[in-house]
Amino acid sequence: KDSVNIGLLGLGTVGTGVVNVLTANAHEISQKTGVPVNIKKILVRNLNKVRNIAAGAVLTTNADDILNDNDIDIIVEVMGGEQPAKDYMLRALNAGKNVVTANKDVVAKFGRELFSAAEANHVDFMFEASVGGGIPIIRPLKQCLAANKLSEVMGIVNGTTNYMLTKMTNEKLDYETVLAEAQAKGYAEADPTADVGGFDAARKIAILASIAFNARVSLEDVDVEGITNISPVDIEYARELGYVIKLLAIAKESEACGINARVHPAFIPLNHPLAAVGDVFNAIFVRGDAVGETMFYGRGAGALPTASAVAGDIVDVARNLRHNVNGRILCTCFDQKPFCPVEN
Ligand code: NAP
Ligand code: HSE
Repeated sequence: KDSVNIGLLGLGTVGTGVVNVLTANAHEISQKTGVPVNIKKILVRNLNKVRNIAAGAVLTTNADDILNDNDIDIIVEVMGGEQPAKDYMLRALNAGKNVVTANKDVVAKFGRELFSAAEANHVDFMFEASVGGGIPIIRPLKQCLAANKLSEVMGIVNGTTNYMLTKMTNEKLDYETVLAEAQAKGYAEADPTADVGGFDAARKIAILASIAFNARVSLEDVDVEGITNISPVDIEYARELGYVIKLLAIAKESEACGINARVHPAFIPLNHPLAAVGDVFNAIFVRGDAVGETMFYGRGAGALPTASAVAGDIVDVARNLRHNVNGRILCTCFDQKPFCPVEN
């Protein structure tokens, strides 16, 4: 191919970031892929909104304009929500198009169906941005750490709640104020109850546990408690005792019991590395029998960090297109494994 064409589904926080990264770094990207990468069409809900992007791509409210366009090689789904995002991605894969997504709701719930469609159609399905914003964590688990017996994946995987807890702790701001700030910065989900209720973190730990333990872990398998009941008094007591409160996502596998996955607020001693993870940052520890303990750290939400991960996937897919080797980096072989009802 002498160029790669993208159909972008969504032009909100992440979609705008993707357009801006692909535009600003077009030269570097084309050097790495060997071909120019163009955004040809963009799906939006409202054509009248003012958009903060360079002119170029055609905006449409009709998904068929994009999904039926034979000239489009990669569908980049950053519209969010389960439907119609899942159906659009499935249609794209079955039409032989590669798909890149940041959508943890769809990956956590329908991942297997989408992986199978990608495998059957010999195309790529990439979802690095679905966990940890700009932090590389999906590929390290799938590839670099694949030879380990992994026993634990844990950490801070929601930027909104970490931003909120950090501000409530350091600046003594109230819950509503810091939630509004996180929404204004583009960190929160369209429905922020997914963030504060712990469900966004639960979806992410389900995705990470599925890959780490080669298992089918879904949202229903994760015990979830969010931060909605955390009050300034809890934060003050924690501080007096030498702790900070963080929303942790934890998944462990033990031979004796099986997999346990949970999300809940926890007291973290001030001298623990996770206590220093503030603002919108995320940090994920992974323990393996060969590698020992590793930690992945960076911005867990926001336009450009998330766009960095999405655009990285686009670069990989574009390289594969150039060499006609799409559909090689798949992850479809999750086993049914026992679950452990207690912490292990
Ligand atoms: P957002 O700001 O709400 O943007 C959503 C975009 O999709 C908007 O442009 C909207 O169009 C469009 N859209 C939504 N539903 C549509 C429909 N039915 N038909 C046509 N267009 C539709 O969302 P976001 O924050 O960018 O998040 C997008 C995805 O990335 C979500 O899956 C989210 O979980 C994930 N993600 C977000 C972040 C982050 O920091 N925000 C980080 C990692 C992953 P209009 O502009 O016309 O309204
Ligand atoms: N709402 C999510 C968060 C976006 O705050 O972590 C990144 O996945």
